[in-house]
Formats: sequence, structure tokens, C-alpha cells
Amino acid sequence: MPVFTGLTRPDDETSLQRIKAWLHERAGIFYEEKKKELLINRLQRVCDRFGYSGFPELESHLLGSQSSELQSAVIHAATTNHTYFFREPQVLNYFARHIVPSLPNEKLRLWNAAASTGDETYTLAMILCEQWGIGETAAKVSILGTDISAPVIAQAESGIYTFNHLEHTPPSLIERYFQPTGIEQYRIRDEIRHLCLFRRLNLKLSPYPFRRLFHVVFCRNVLYYFDKPHQISTVQALYEVTEPGGWLVTSVTESLRDLNSPWTPVTSGIYRKMA
Ligand SMILES: C[S@@+](CC[C@H](N)C(=O)[O-])C[C@H]1O[C@@H](n2cnc3c(N)ncnc32)[C@H](O)[C@@H]1O
Repeated sequence: MPVFTGLTRPDDETSLQRIKAWLHERAGIFYEEKKKELLINRLQRVCDRFGYSGFPELESHLLGSQSSELQSAVIHAATTNHTYFFREPQVLNYFARHIVPSLPNEKLRLWNAAASTGDETYTLAMILCEQWGIGETAAKVSILGTDISAPVIAQAESGIYTFNHLEHTPPSLIERYFQPTGIEQYRIRDEIRHLCLFRRLNLKLSPYPFRRLFHVVFCRNVLYYFDKPHQISTVQALYEVTEPGGWLVTSVTESLRDLNSPWTPVTSGIYRKMA
């Protein structure tokens, strides 16, 4: 049976490889050959949106001009933004039960790197509010959510979600922290929204531009889109912006084991910068 590649001309293939190299260079996003079909479909959607006849035209605009709208659209199309509230309870429980009680009694800074649409960032805010109440959390904590993709940051700032983002959220928390705004649509309450600040940040560009170190960094479900050298440089750069004694939370499926990193493993998905 013939394999459909979606590409019919050799110049399409050449352009695809150049766009792929641009993505890797710019964002660290690495598409293995077996994911080629996925990349083709995603880039095709960008061609359709911008009215380009194919990948050679996309390539010439992408590489030949400084159109940040096009660059942003290609990066957004190439990223996987799947996320939802209260993802991976195992590490969230560890955060709530062990990390939060161990944090110093001072103004706390949390960073959610690769936050996508903000579900994870607001999840952290809700966990803290459950422990400390909204008033104390607001006085004590600032939470930064960042992502390379502009549209997801815009959605995070809006705080509006369809119910599929909330399927793993306990109903009592939906009631406490969300307002229904339409059919199967919810808005995070302003008190929670105001605890979180969202910005664009490319994890490929280190050192990261922060003046103060973070007490806790969440960086989940993004490292596996990077190749090994970029994984190594990312976890090192995260280390450098973390307070001594601070924490890194990854997904349980992302191990730092082979990355020769300075982080001390604590348990699955949990790492610490030893003081
Ligand atoms: C699968 S989502 C993970 C969202 C959330 N951390 C979670 O675990 O549910 C991966 C996110 O990483 C972002 N991303 C990919 N490459 C990035 C880079 N170089 N810098 C910052 N964010 C990046 C994507 O835009 C996407 O929103």
C-alpha cells in the first residue's frame, strides 16, 4: 500500500526540511521522521490561513521576511498545547503535601514554564488557595506562567475554558473558583486570575531574563519535544533561576536521568536544588 506523505514535489520536501530546521533552531522543537505527517498537516493549515500555494512559498516568507505574525503562527501550529486542569495528580499531591509546607516564610515566586493555556498555572493557584485561603495566597505568592506561543498566552490571560479542560477538576473546586459563562464554558474567578501573570518566553533562549530566583518551577510535558542537547541546556537554565533549596516539578514521564543535570531527584517528577 502506498504511504501518503502529503508531499508531491521534491521542492516541497526541501522546503519542509528547511522549515523543520528553522523550528529546531528557533524554538528547539524537534520533529522526528516518524512525526513528519503531523508536521505536514500542521504546516498545511498555516499555508491555508496565509493563502500560500505550498511549502516553498511558506518557506520563502518565513525565512525571507521578519513577519512576526507568520513566525508566531508557524510556532503555534508546530507546538502541542494539550493541557487541562489538575493534570497528573501524583506530582500535584506531592506539591501540595510536601513542597508547599516546606516553602520559606517569605514572598514566594513560582514559575510555570510552558504553561500553554494556563490550566496548570491556575491549578497551582487553586492548590495554594485551598491551603492558605485566597487572601493569604495573594499576599504571599506571585505565579508566572510562560509559553512560546502567543495564542495560548492570550487564552490563559482570558481565563475562559470549555468543560473538557475541567474534566479532572473536583466539582467543589469548579464551584469555588469558576463562574459559568455559557454552555459548557467557564471563567476562572478574578481572585485566582489576579494571582497569575502570563508572558511569552522561549525556553530555548537562555539564560532566562529574571531578576529574582524562583522557589518552585513547574516545567511539565514540554521537554520531550526537545532534542537531548536542548533538554540538557533547558534543565540547566531552570536550575540557574531557582533558589537554593528550591524545587523543579516535571511530568512523571519525563526523567532527567540521562541529562547529566545538577538537580537532585526526590521522587518521580520531583527534583530539588540542594541548598
Ligand atoms: C503539551 S503543552 C504542556 C502544558 C502544561 N505544562 C501541561 O503539562 O499540561 C507543551 C507547551 O510547551 C510549549 N512550548 C514548546 N516549545 C517551547 C519553547 N521552546 N519555549 C516555551 N514553551 C514551549 C508549547 O507551546 C505548549 O504550550
